[in-house]
Amino acid sequence: MVSVSRRSLLALGAALPVLGHLDWAVASPAPTASGPVLLNYNESPYGPSKAALEAMQTGMAASGRYPYPHMYALAALFARQQGINEDNVAVFAGSMAALRYAVLAFTSPARGLVMATPSYEVPRQAAESNKAAVHEVDLNAQHAHDVPAMLAANPQAGMLYLCNPNNPTGTLTPTEAIRQALANKPEGSVLVVDEAYIDFCDAPSCVSWVKDHDDVLVLRTFSKIYGMAGARLGLAIGHPRLLERLAVFGGDNVPAGTSLLGAQASLEDVKLLGQRKALNASLRDETIAWLKGRGYACTASQSNCFMIDVRQPAEQVVERLAVQQVLVGRVWKNWPQWVRVTVGNKQQMQRFCEVFAAQIA
Ligand SMILES: Cc1ncc(COP(=O)(O)O)c(C=O)c1O
Repeated sequence: MVSVSRRSLLALGAALPVLGHLDWAVASPAPTASGPVLLNYNESPYGPSKAALEAMQTGMAASGRYPYPHMYALAALFARQQGINEDNVAVFAGSMAALRYAVLAFTSPARGLVMATPSYEVPRQAAESNKAAVHEVDLNAQHAHDVPAMLAANPQAGMLYLCNPNNPTGTLTPTEAIRQALANKPEGSVLVVDEAYIDFCDAPSCVSWVKDHDDVLVLRTFSKIYGMAGARLGLAIGHPRLLERLAVFGGDNVPAGTSLLGAQASLEDVKLLGQRKALNASLRDETIAWLKGRGYACTASQSNCFMIDVRQPAEQVVERLAVQQVLVGRVWKNWPQWVRVTVGNKQQMQRFCEVFAAQIA
């Protein structure tokens, strides 16, 4: 443990990006000045956009009616923007719900789940509850999904789950590898591509693939770049027959006008995405550069989170930072020396570096 010199803190401030026209996002809403620094759930530090907040306030009045017209309107807007049919889009109370339903629909005791590790654990938990075999395949040396190994893992698989960019590493899997997964997966299985973080990066989306394939399901969420995690809205995009198989488990439980109108306003805000993406990338890359400068390896993240090799039991690092009110994590069982950190706003990342330097580095 070393103490942080005044000079190194000044250097850190200088290393973090000059935000220029992006200052708006730092200024609003107010960062958690007094509470803990929340870098532990991959939430947006900026919350819903101004337009989304206004739309949600207006939407309160719609709460007396069932949400269906707003659900269809949101699906239609997303479909129009993506150049797909609106019957390829279904709205859920968060993409986690859609993901769980997909696992329940496409796996069974006879047809297992294949996924990567470390990756988002929800599909594994859902498959276990469905008594389906789970094959977890290590990420490859580039921290991409090892598609050949995933294809070989279980010829009876009912579902392949691929998270791109991956949570927790933030790393990308090349589109060509995802195409290989779709082309070569077990007969009768479904490829589920979770694009919760795709808007943070430049990688192409798989959404348009649903036009030509009835065995790929893509998931999107309003919880990440749009800052609406508490509003619980996600989309499943796929062939209508696949969406029907999810619908039997539910899907009409989305929060009335409020969330749906906020989501529509977010999609209509053409500048929002680019601004938040640029801001996230610059804060992420500066923080990673700062860590690497101190000898800590980080994953090559293209997302709003990354992992650090802390070269010691990562759970202890989480605890030491938490004592200083900086919350990070989680730690994945097979990467016990790596910790996930969410990219927060400028002040939060400065505080993170400050506390990391004092407590860990
Ligand atoms: C990869 C991935 N998929 C889905 C979700 C869940 O998103 P939602 O808030 O839409 O349920 C998360 C949340 O962290 C996630 O990391």
